[in-house]
Amino acid sequence: MSATTTLSPKAVIFDAYGTLFDVHSVVAAAEQMFPGHGDALSQLWRQKQIEYAQLRTASDPAGARYQPFWNITLDALRFAARKLGLPLNAAGEKRLMDEYACLSAFPDVLPALRQLRTIRGGSGGTSGDARIGLAILSNGNPQMLDIAVKSAGMSGMFDHVLSVDAVRAFKPAPASYALGTGAFGAAPREIVFVSSNGWDACGANWFGYTVFWLNRQGVPAEELGVTAHGTGRSMSDLIAFIANHIDNHTSPAKTARKAGKHEHR
Ligand code: LAC
Repeated sequence: MSATTTLSPKAVIFDAYGTLFDVHSVVAAAEQMFPGHGDALSQLWRQKQIEYAQLRTASDPAGARYQPFWNITLDALRFAARKLGLPLNAAGEKRLMDEYACLSAFPDVLPALRQLRTIRGGSGGTSGDARIGLAILSNGNPQMLDIAVKSAGMSGMFDHVLSVDAVRAFKPAPASYALGTGAFGAAPREIVFVSSNGWDACGANWFGYTVFWLNRQGVPAEELGVTAHGTGRSMSDLIAFIANHIDNHTSPAKTARKAGKHEHR
């Protein structure tokens, strides 16, 4: 896609887990509880969490098998521990779920959100000042997201915190991505969707969003025949990407445009 198709985005929408919220504290707690197995437990837990969410939606897009993401997260933890032969008792389960509820933000998140809030984009903000709009769009259920946003110090940073719970369909169901376009009254390509999850970046791309794949882990791109419009390892790469797509030369993003670099394919 060429740069001319993504001028002046109205909003930036973020995936939550792994993109804004760092699950490292969960790995550390898991490692303390099961020395030598923390990473494996955390990886399998995450994998099953996503798989269960996708299965529940794929098997019935109308939402009959939908469960709040918190419940799915607990189910996935129980399976992962059993599969790895780890003795997870009720206290251990509670400890890991408590960690999951109150994750920290990655260190680059808050400074980047503050900077994004100063960028004048395509009038996605709610204040009528043409500030670029900011939102979360997550599989997390509303209560889970509310606690996570507060505990990570992100209260008041977003125009919308959107949960797929509203449509009982997990990403990558189109109905879930449509929550973002609906919230901002914008076409998908006028919104930059940011995710660290390769599958989510592909799903958002298929929906029509302009996608920035925040490849924090430096993993290979998914073999799904779609390429993100921008890719980077950190939020400063995202800022540079946005700056290059803002048709506003008075924007504070100008500095980032000069300083940063982004890959545009
Ligand atoms: C989310 C998960 C999938 O926040 O990362 O939607």
